[in-house]
Amino acid sequence: MSNFQPFVMERLMSKWENLVDYNLSESGVHPATVRDLIPDPDQIERLLSTEFVYPQANGIPELRERIAALYPNATSAHVLVTVGCIEANLISLQTLLEPGDEIAVMAPNYLQIWGAAQNLGVSVRTFDLSSDQGWALDVDSLNRAVTDQTKVIAVCNPNNPTGHIMSSSEMDAVVAAADRVGAWLLADEVYSGTERLTDEKTPSFWSRYDKVLANNSLSKAYGLPGLRVGWIVGPPDVIDAAWARHEYTTIAIATLSNQLAAIALEPDMQQKLLKRTRDYIRRGYPIFEEWMRSHGDLFSIVPPDASAIAFPRYTVDVNSTTFVEQLIKEKSALVAPGDHFNLDHHLRISFGLQPDYLRGGLERIHAMFEDLAN
Ligand SMILES: Cc1ncc(COP(=O)(O)O)c(C=O)c1O
Repeated sequence: MSNFQPFVMERLMSKWENLVDYNLSESGVHPATVRDLIPDPDQIERLLSTEFVYPQANGIPELRERIAALYPNATSAHVLVTVGCIEANLISLQTLLEPGDEIAVMAPNYLQIWGAAQNLGVSVRTFDLSSDQGWALDVDSLNRAVTDQTKVIAVCNPNNPTGHIMSSSEMDAVVAAADRVGAWLLADEVYSGTERLTDEKTPSFWSRYDKVLANNSLSKAYGLPGLRVGWIVGPPDVIDAAWARHEYTTIAIATLSNQLAAIALEPDMQQKLLKRTRDYIRRGYPIFEEWMRSHGDLFSIVPPDASAIAFPRYTVDVNSTTFVEQLIKEKSALVAPGDHFNLDHHLRISFGLQPDYLRGGLERIHAMFEDLAN
């Protein structure tokens, strides 16, 4: 087999997330249902007559128009619909980079781009969000990581796993670094719309700079991960080049996913779904926080600005992967270990869940720490 950097967190999640009693590893909220999307029986009738044709491969026009409407001055020619943000990120890399190129990637981060770039033979440098500064961007480390060889700067904003939302001046620093060397900006913005403390959506990097690919999906802010709908928004020539990669990976998203995604992005439905997500986040965080505080100084945290995940540090001297392996085996619960973000002694715990389920999962984590203490 070829030399390959696996995506360790997704490996763990895909093996266990549907088998454990309590899955607190997911980064989105408790998912919406088909009924949430199509409450009207007439709509159901129309959907029942959908033919399973190969749909328009870059996304049906109605869906691309609704996605374009989320971005200033974008048209459907600026949009490629993909199978989740995961495909959007992968084919963005395939489109912008060649073996031997250099990419600067934000850390900590969802390590897809970090690992996939290595698998493409690309050299990866990282720059930091600083835990000592409330996970603010460390601009010096950004400027060190971005060299004359840098072809792409990859950010995740709001950030997974910290929930940090970059300030306007942090965003300006990223744009300035890209502009200094003529690099592309690859912005993974899947957590935009999951803000915990404001109803204002985190602004996109789109339109702040001309060489931006803004990637997103319906999985997090809209609570629809199983639809597997994501997108790239970028300049039409790059979108066309990415579409050529999409023909090799997946051809198109599913016919029904195209239709349902267009429904999800109708203006009223969009607002309904975003509110539903924020309600889960705002109901869940206080439950998590109370649980965490009940452990005295075992945990410390910078509360997330956005997302349905908390990323506390813990003081017990146990490796995070070892902890999670024991948690799965002995307590039938799953969270993501800090190791999967290259930050040991942290756990990524989801809280955008139904309250009883969340409490049940937290209780299992508590029991695991108790066992370790004894
Ligand atoms: C930052 C980030 N990007 C992309 C993805 C992939 O999401 P999807 O393919 O469901 O849109 C995830 C999933 O957790 C994520 O956290």
